[in-house]
Amino acid sequence: MPCMQLFRDSIIEEVNKKGKITFAEFMKMALYHPKYGYYNSYRERVGRFGDFYTSPTVHRIFGELIAKQLEEMWRIMGGGLFTVVEMGANKGWLCHDIIQNIMKEYPEFYANFHYIIVESNPYARGKQRLLLESIHVTDEKVSWHTYSEDGFPFDRIQGCFLSNEFVDALPVHRLKVKNKVLKEIYVSYNDTGFFEIDDEASTEALKRYLDTYQIYLKEGQGYEVNLGAAEWLRHVSEKLQKGFVLTIDYGDTIDGLYRENGSDGTLRCFYKHTVNRDFYERPGEQDITAHVDFTNLMNAGKSAGLEVTGFTKQSHYLIALGILKRLNNTNKDIETILKVKNLFHPEGMGNVFKVLIQHKNIERPQLSSLRPLSSLTM
Ligand SMILES: C[S@@+](CC[C@H](N)C(=O)[O-])C[C@H]1O[C@@H](n2cnc3c(N)ncnc32)[C@H](O)[C@@H]1O
Repeated sequence: MPCMQLFRDSIIEEVNKKGKITFAEFMKMALYHPKYGYYNSYRERVGRFGDFYTSPTVHRIFGELIAKQLEEMWRIMGGGLFTVVEMGANKGWLCHDIIQNIMKEYPEFYANFHYIIVESNPYARGKQRLLLESIHVTDEKVSWHTYSEDGFPFDRIQGCFLSNEFVDALPVHRLKVKNKVLKEIYVSYNDTGFFEIDDEASTEALKRYLDTYQIYLKEGQGYEVNLGAAEWLRHVSEKLQKGFVLTIDYGDTIDGLYRENGSDGTLRCFYKHTVNRDFYERPGEQDITAHVDFTNLMNAGKSAGLEVTGFTKQSHYLIALGILKRLNNTNKDIETILKVKNLFHPEGMGNVFKVLIQHKNIERPQLSSLRPLSSLTM
């Protein structure tokens, strides 16, 4: 029997056992089932032969600028041992580009540098190893760990927790208002296939979330809540003795999300570079993702001891870090120019992607990536 059918059957078994499961439980299975989940398979997910592009797969300039950012953080922290923890490195392009650039441009920083890749997918780990071997990264510079609901297994670090498009891949609960009553969307199954049921919210935390952010949904309006994001930041802060959290993802503050969030919510599936809302089709074969609520990340971070250093658009961030200068200095074939432009152009990844930087145990850090663009000279 093909894998997808076997996987469908195991989801159906789980649904039938419980009668119904929350959408978040369905999404968790579809993406993270240990054997068939989208992010645990050997499938090509990101890049030309996958389902979507991410910034590190667009051009290595992205990783080079993050390397520059990390070196600045290291200097602000006064030097010493600096550990980068990257969540969900996929094939390892970002860590490859970062490490290669640090080796070349910042030898003193490299001497004090360690990289932790947080990755549970064994196929991805294998690919990351190969890529790092190709640039002769020695074993003591990189280590691999996993992240679970219990947190991270390593000791506290000084350095930076880094993620690109990690938070948008965490399971979300789906809410809506029906006849003026708040409902959560559950998933059930009968002979005709999966279908949705509205019922009471599965946890008080969902109601608290709407109350905290004063979200009043209109009749029928859909809204997704990512409870795992705040949990993850609590775990991050537990392990961050001193340093930064750099989170890059698509989404907005709650105002932007709530205002721009039509009646359907922001949940989408990506399959071979097409977008759909057929959440129950191709389980394990397509990505399911929702926009990130950055207000929640800022608030959850504050409660966990992380202060906001700054929040901006990817366009601002990359321009302030010097992407235009770097573009001028690269090989100027038209393909490269278009790729790099896509990273910061407002109609490409520049506006929809945001950058949140938080810090802990550092007095008012001033990062050049957050300075006003009007202060830049070209
Ligand atoms: C959209 S992909 C982004 C990949 C990569 N960062 C990039 O920019 O190309 C989301 C990543 O988050 C990872 N992820 C989600 N939950 C995770 C967890 N608990 N531990 C480690 N990685 C996780 C997935 O495995 C996947 O690699």
